[in-house]
Amino acid sequence: NSEEEMYRPNFHFTPKENWMNDPNGMFFYNEYYHLYFQYYPEGNKWGPMHWGHAISTDMISWKEQPIAIYPDELGYIFSGSAVVDHNNSSGFGKDGAIPIVAMFTSHDPIKEKEKKTDVESQSIAYSLDEGLTWTKYRGNPVIKNQGDRDFRDPKVMWDEIREQWVMVLAAGQKTLFYSSTNLKDWQLLSEFGEGVGNHDGVWECPDLFPLPVDGSDEVKWVHLVSINPGGPNGGSATQYFIGDFDGKQFTMDPSFEKAINKRHDFWVDFGRDNYAGVTWSNVTTSSGGKLFMGWMSNWDYAQVVPTETWRSAMTIARELKLQKSDDGYVLTSLPVDELNQYRGKKYKKEAISVKGNVKLTDSKTVDLTKSEINFAIADIKNAGFKFTLSNSLGNELVFGYNSSTTNFYIERSKAGKTDFSEKFANETTTAPRTSNNTDLKGTILLDKTSIELFYDDGQTVMTEIFFPNAPFEMLSVDSEDNEFMLEHFEIHELNF
Ligand code: FRU
Repeated sequence: NSEEEMYRPNFHFTPKENWMNDPNGMFFYNEYYHLYFQYYPEGNKWGPMHWGHAISTDMISWKEQPIAIYPDELGYIFSGSAVVDHNNSSGFGKDGAIPIVAMFTSHDPIKEKEKKTDVESQSIAYSLDEGLTWTKYRGNPVIKNQGDRDFRDPKVMWDEIREQWVMVLAAGQKTLFYSSTNLKDWQLLSEFGEGVGNHDGVWECPDLFPLPVDGSDEVKWVHLVSINPGGPNGGSATQYFIGDFDGKQFTMDPSFEKAINKRHDFWVDFGRDNYAGVTWSNVTTSSGGKLFMGWMSNWDYAQVVPTETWRSAMTIARELKLQKSDDGYVLTSLPVDELNQYRGKKYKKEAISVKGNVKLTDSKTVDLTKSEINFAIADIKNAGFKFTLSNSLGNELVFGYNSSTTNFYIERSKAGKTDFSEKFANETTTAPRTSNNTDLKGTILLDKTSIELFYDDGQTVMTEIFFPNAPFEMLSVDSEDNEFMLEHFEIHELNF
């Protein structure tokens, strides 16, 4: 119905029908980016999991494909990853076809019902037609349950230095590292997590990859770990650790360890709607960045958001990079460059001094429901700012920066429908500003039902969804205390 389609994003991936959660199995091959996802094709709530599938040449426009992997006698197909096995180390290749190998968790619903511990084990499957159809390995599971009830979400990568496959897995509240030469036989190497990071929930969907540090020859390893609950603003979120991996063990960088003990946990995204995100296994950008995508929802309310025919969207694809500042290493995320190809009508304002409320756009200026806004504010030290996105019905999404707490925030309690869950808009979401720059730069990515905020070149990110009763069509800005200079303000309407 029309209300449904009113909420369907203009340019974020959603399945045509039914339930979706985590992104899975992302790889790049023969011009196509592949995205698989946790999918229940028979309902709009979580159920027996399959891997849905979509392909894209730019990670922005997606074409949904037939379901890729179905549940079997070992159980539901939970989250996992996929790699391109160029050297046919697995031996699954045939007649010159390069095998793509997926590794996922088999989750046994019968054992779950019987309250057994060995519910989850790891299995593999391969594809000889570029990821379209898959054959499960006869020797599954390749890693049997080792005594942890929660034992899942294998993420495989090729470790170039040691010439080995490395896999990281979540087990309870720690991560386990494994290696393999053939993707079938796995050897446990080490574990990580005791006493570090957030432990308010179960660890899920880990990732591990090297990243160059911007502006130097240094390379550090990044370890992502999703956690539910325990997120900085409630429910599910993804934390990160920065350190080194010697082929066997991940250790935090001493400066990072100091920062995490002193300051706070480190989060990929402080908004409430970016979970279970992982990276494309076998590609980097021209500057060495990794490509990342998350599930744009939160287990606190994902199953009751007001859409019926389909449920959940993915975040925009992002480039992850590492920056080093006086405070140590920070992981940054920004929308992938491919998004720039969709820029259409441009609207730019001259520098303005903001005192009180200033209208920036109205419904005639630009279609805000598919837009990218870039702005810069001079000398943020003593000036808070508040943006208000609104519609003719009086719904408002408010977001900005509080100069006394030095927190960014998003407030969605008046942004439309909220009563489907008590947890959806019970509190203002906040994120501490980490940059010391006097100027503040930001990118705002707006779709019909989501906002993605990238501050300070992606050092602080906030992603949230909302359900207005009519599309948002106006934007204004307020000075919260002192007057400030909006030096730069530019909107690109996106062509979708
Ligand atoms: C994370 C998660 C994973 C699991 C999947 C099941 O959202 O709980 O740990 O594999 O969802 O759908």
